[in-house]
Amino acid sequence: MWWQDAVIYQIYPRSFQDSDADGVGDLSGIEQRLDHLAWLGVDALWLSPIYPSPMYDFGYDISDYKDVDPAFGSLEDFDRLVAAARNRGLRVLLDLVPCHTSTEHPWFREHPDWYIWSDAPNNWSSAFGGPAWSKLDGRYYLHSFYPEQADLDWRNPELVAAMQDALRFWIERGTAGYRVDAIDRLLKDPQLRDDPPAGEPFGLPLRQDEAKLALTNSRNAPDTGAALAKIREAVGDALLVGEVYLPSARWQPYLEHLDAAFAFELLHAPWDAERLRAAIAATTRRPGAAWVLSNHDFGRLVTRFGPENARAAALLLLTLPGPAFLYQGDEIGLGDGPRCERVYDRAGRDRYRHPMQWDGSPSGGFTTGSAWLPPVDPEATNVEAQRDDPRSTLSLVRDLLALRRILGDGFELIDADPGVLAYRRGEHTIAINTSRQSQRAPLSRDVVLETAPGAVRDRTLAAHAGVITRSDEGVGQA
Ligand code: NOJ
Repeated sequence: MWWQDAVIYQIYPRSFQDSDADGVGDLSGIEQRLDHLAWLGVDALWLSPIYPSPMYDFGYDISDYKDVDPAFGSLEDFDRLVAAARNRGLRVLLDLVPCHTSTEHPWFREHPDWYIWSDAPNNWSSAFGGPAWSKLDGRYYLHSFYPEQADLDWRNPELVAAMQDALRFWIERGTAGYRVDAIDRLLKDPQLRDDPPAGEPFGLPLRQDEAKLALTNSRNAPDTGAALAKIREAVGDALLVGEVYLPSARWQPYLEHLDAAFAFELLHAPWDAERLRAAIAATTRRPGAAWVLSNHDFGRLVTRFGPENARAAALLLLTLPGPAFLYQGDEIGLGDGPRCERVYDRAGRDRYRHPMQWDGSPSGGFTTGSAWLPPVDPEATNVEAQRDDPRSTLSLVRDLLALRRILGDGFELIDADPGVLAYRRGEHTIAINTSRQSQRAPLSRDVVLETAPGAVRDRTLAAHAGVITRSDEGVGQA
C-alpha cells in the first residue's frame, strides 16, 4: 500500500500559489509549484476543498460536489494538475466533506428530505459554539458547524447515491484518495435525543459546555459503519483518512472502513516528553494512526510548540511509523500570522492560513496581485533562501523525508531520562529533548541527523534538540 509510510503534504489552495493575480491561490498555481514538492520528497498532496462554495467555511461549505470553484480554476485545471503531479510521482488527495453541504447547495432547496430537520431543537451544540439548530420556515435544520452548513441525512438512500456519484467522479479523474472531514458527525441518533450528562471524560479537549455532555447522540451513531461502507464502495481501494475526533481507543468501528485516522491525542499533547510519550503509546497500541501536528485549524509548528522546538517537532512528525501529514509552510518554519483587521473565518482561524512564502519579495512570491491575507515575514522565512542552506529548516525536512525511507521497520518506545522522548525504528534510535536543559539520552555514537549542529555530545542531547542515531550494536552502547 503506497500510503503506509507516506508523507502527505497539505495544501490550503487559497494560500499556496496564485497564478492569475487575484490574490487567491489556485490550481494552476499549485501546478507551478509541484517541483518544490517533488524536490522535497513528499509522496502525495492533499488539497483542502476546491469545490464551488460560498466560502463561509472556506470550502468546507460545498455548493456543488462535482466542480471546481472559479476562484481555484476549472475541472481542466484539476486534470492538468493530476497529470503533472503523476509525472513527478506525486498523488493527489481531495477533501471529502460528507456530513454537511452549504445551505446554498441546490440540494437544500430541491431535496430538503436529504437533510436533518426537527420541530424543536434538542441540546446538541455546534462545533463553533451555540445551538446546532437554526429555524427555517417554521422548522429547525441541524448544523453541526456553521449555520451555513446544513447536516445531511446519511440514512436517506437517495442522498447516499448522490454522494457515491460525486465520490466516483473524482476517483475517475485520478484522485488517489480522500481526507474525510468530521466523520464522527456522519450519523446521529435517529430519534434526535438530547446528549445525556457526561460520564467518563471524553479523552480529547472539548469546549466547556460540550464537556458537560456525553456526546453519545449528537455523533458516532452505532450504524455509522453502514454509511462508511457506502463511501468505501464508491472509492474502491483509494486511501481514506478520517478526521475522527475521538481518542484512538474508540477508532475501531471507523477503521473497519477507513484506512487511517488522524491521531488527535498527539496533536493536542503539549511539548512535554512524558505527555507526548503517553499519546504515542496510546495511539500506537493499534494500527491506523495518521500523524498530524499542524493544519489549517490548529496552526503551525513554530507557533504551536515555540520556534526553539519546531525543528524537533518536525523530526517527531516525520519519524513516527505510519503516514504523516505535513502542513504547507512547516517545511520552512513559517509561523502563524497576526490577526488582521478584516476577519474571514468567524472561528478565528485566519492566522493559520496566511500565504506560503516562496521568496523574499514583499508578496513572498505568492501573488503578483494583492494577497487575500498578507504574508507573515517573507524576507525572514522563504523557500528560496533556505533551499541551498544545509542548516535551514527546509534542508532538515528534506533530509528527514529521505531518511524516513530507510529508518527500518518496527517501532518501540524506549526508556529515557525525564524530559527525553526516545524510540527505536529498526536500527535507528530517535531522541527528542523537550526540556530546557541538556539531558542524557539513550544514543549510540553514529549520529545520522541532528536538529542543531553539535546537539549531541557524549550521549547528552542539547535542550530542545532532536537526533537520530544508528547502531548495529543495540541501543545505549557507545
Ligand atoms: C474540519 C475542517 O478541517 C474545518 O476547517 C471545518 O471548519 C470543519 N471540519 C467543518 O467542515
